[in-house]
Amino acid sequence: MSIKLKDGITWVGKIDWELRKFHGESLSTHRGSSYNAFLVEDEKTVLVDTVWGPYAKEFIEDLKKTVDLKKIDYIIAQHGETDHSGSLSELLRYIPGTPVYCTANAVKSLKGQYHEDWNFQVVKTGDRLNIGSKEFVFIEAPMLHWPDSLLSYLTGDEILFSNDAFGQHYATAQMFNDLADQSEMLAEAKKYYANILAPFNKLVEKKIQEVLALNLPLKMICPDHGVIWRQNPAQIIEQYLLWARDYQENQITVLYDTMWNGTRRMAETIAEGIKEADPAVTVKLYHVGKEDINDIVTEVFSSKGIVVGSPTVNNRVLFSLAGLIDELGRMNLKNKRAAAFGAYGWSGEAVKLLNGMLTEVGFAIVNDGLRVAWNPDEEQLDSCRQFGRDFAADFTK
Ligand SMILES: Cc1cc2nc3c(=O)[nH]c(=O)nc-3n(C[C@H](O)[C@H](O)[C@H](O)COP(=O)(O)O)c2cc1C
Ligand SMILES: [Fe+2]
Ligand SMILES: [Fe+2]
Repeated sequence: MSIKLKDGITWVGKIDWELRKFHGESLSTHRGSSYNAFLVEDEKTVLVDTVWGPYAKEFIEDLKKTVDLKKIDYIIAQHGETDHSGSLSELLRYIPGTPVYCTANAVKSLKGQYHEDWNFQVVKTGDRLNIGSKEFVFIEAPMLHWPDSLLSYLTGDEILFSNDAFGQHYATAQMFNDLADQSEMLAEAKKYYANILAPFNKLVEKKIQEVLALNLPLKMICPDHGVIWRQNPAQIIEQYLLWARDYQENQITVLYDTMWNGTRRMAETIAEGIKEADPAVTVKLYHVGKEDINDIVTEVFSSKGIVVGSPTVNNRVLFSLAGLIDELGRMNLKNKRAAAFGAYGWSGEAVKLLNGMLTEVGFAIVNDGLRVAWNPDEEQLDSCRQFGRDFAADFTK
């Protein structure tokens, strides 16, 4: 399949409707994904990125229907990660020696993965590649999200090829931001940001400011996953600036796991207390052991505070909570409050441990937490409700 975006610009990627896990098994992709690659035809013909390795043959067969492969003058490899570079080896067997434009770091990541000595042409920020009536302007974007990441701006058409930035894992036949289901698209864009780009918030903000300062006119943003931003493409840049600035919504999320429901009853009652104290706040509740961890990360990313509960199990917390907090540490979230709770039988270390673990990954712990021996009775549930009220009320003080 290929889709003409405008004269001389064709989408030649692959929509992966089946994908449910990305980065091995570590990132859920409930709505599939796409690997967007682009063919730019002027006096010279340029391929921007390729698709994931398992689809290499399909990609090349489709590409042949759009262009005689021998006509491809240059390849731009914006990122060495295999979802975009995975078809290069196969493609370059048909057109050996074709120059591959990429960053110095991409030479390392591509050689490190494919162990081939392609005709690398290293580009730096500000370098230009003339293709006839227009040119590519390159902007290095290290750590967005790999050291090798590159943005490529095409003059004339005024298109920013943004690689992973501004993308979503979202398979849609609609293809364009104005045609896609808006809530699905934005939810997937947020999940992508929270789980992949949030650790690099500071760099995202700096890079966006750097690009905005270039005052480049912008008609389209073509990311390597999900929709093409053609209607008001600035909207996703503005959204990224909000997300990059220690984002939060008026949301408190209660996260817990439980073996015999004591901690669950605490969680539900704490949530009631939160809602009582602040009817306007969005309260969400998740059993961490049952819920998709990447969806929880997205909810925490959207929250101003989290309340986290675990029973004590062999002097420790349940592994689902330990896993979640470890993952939250990887996301480097700032400006968020937390409190801990949990049921216990005899030694009851979980709450204190949760406090320590949450502090270590950057959450501001607002109190000592709440423990209940065995299953909570009415009086103890009242203290849970009060615990929730206090947590919510603290924000309005
Ligand atoms: C396998 C297992 C290990 C436990 N280890 C501890 C422990 O080390 N210290 C403690 O205080 N309670 C321990 N408990 C007791 C639980 O914390 C207690 O039953 C608590 O009420 C369970 O909360 P829940 O209903 O939310 O699962 C253990 C319970 C189980 C089933
Ligand atoms: Fe990537
Ligand atoms: Fe990617």
